[in-house]
Amino acid sequence: MYVCMCYGVTDTAIRQAVTSNGVGNIRDLREQLQLGSQCGKCIQMAQQIIDATIIDE
Ligand code: FES
Repeated sequence: MYVCMCYGVTDTAIRQAVTSNGVGNIRDLREQLQLGSQCGKCIQMAQQIIDATIIDE
């Protein structure tokens, strides 16, 4: 599912960034995937996915 429509970032890509690339917060994610730097509507959902993935690790 697409989380960030502006940059075409999926939930799978976010989870992968957390588990494989050491992303721990929105700032890290933005540096890697650009997510959130256009309209910002995706940030809340992206944060939830980051949190849920970290808990599951
Ligand atoms: Fe992510 Fe617009 S939906 S910046």
